[in-house]
Amino acid sequence: MVGSLQDRDAARRLVAAPAEQERWQNRRLVDSMTETESYSIRTYGDQIADVYDRYYGDCNPAAIGALKALAGAGPALELGIGTGRVALPLAAAGVHVSGIDASEAMVRQLRAKPGGAAIPVAMGDFAEVGVDGPFTLIYVVFNTFFNLLTQADQVRCFQNVAKRLAADGLFILEAFVPDLYRFRGGQDVRVIAQSEAEVRIDVSQIDTVNQLVTATHVTLSGQGARLCPVKLRYAWPAELDLMALLGGLRLKERWGSWDRSPFTASSGSHISLYGAK
Ligand SMILES: C[S@@+](CC[C@H](N)C(=O)[O-])C[C@H]1O[C@@H](n2cnc3c(N)ncnc32)[C@H](O)[C@@H]1O
Repeated sequence: MVGSLQDRDAARRLVAAPAEQERWQNRRLVDSMTETESYSIRTYGDQIADVYDRYYGDCNPAAIGALKALAGAGPALELGIGTGRVALPLAAAGVHVSGIDASEAMVRQLRAKPGGAAIPVAMGDFAEVGVDGPFTLIYVVFNTFFNLLTQADQVRCFQNVAKRLAADGLFILEAFVPDLYRFRGGQDVRVIAQSEAEVRIDVSQIDTVNQLVTATHVTLSGQGARLCPVKLRYAWPAELDLMALLGGLRLKERWGSWDRSPFTASSGSHISLYGAK
């Protein structure tokens, strides 16, 4: 069997035009990334926890202002609370915030920060939203919703959020707008940061059939190479809105940024506000 697959590959190499060869080789790379490696809902957080705040620690004050205004009297729930990058300043602004996360390593970072011990966190899969409500605000930011790797899990998350929202509660989802143009031949490599001491590169491959991006954050420094894997199932805003409807929620507003500027065709990301139908 292995021999016959190799024969088939060899035959393809012989007959394929260069562009098709490149596509085929990229296809094989994507298959090997998605089918053979073990990756669970804890992997991303566990691998990145100790450097997460150094890489992404800044939180946009406009995000805190908007979430506080939307939470009203609260309480609020963050899906994928992580190191508390957003939850801690929101709690400091007077909102009663709790969270869900799958990674104990991420939550340990939260616990170690001032105020972190006081935030209630449920350990588990946020697709289940396994905590009591009702919440005036449930939010998932920084593309974290796309950490749910199948459409079924994403729909389930909308359904469970709907069950735990107060009657006039809101579900806020911040995510990028997928940009397939950045993937040439099914892959993308980009420099994230560069200094004399350290280089950070993101290496990504895309599986457009399953809307799956398999990426590795690579850090190169005098200490050697460090790899943090991440997988995302991306979705365009229209699919998110349809999944929300299936879950019993309706799009109320969509912003292009936390300052509530309008979402337009050139927006690279969106903040979507869903509420009861
Ligand atoms: C990109 S980080 C975002 C953390 C935080 N929300 C922020 O904005 O800084 C994603 C977080 O979601 C958690 N996570 C990913 N998939 C999850 C899942 N299915 N259930 C629970 N937590 C999950 C990870 O452990 C990580 O802490």
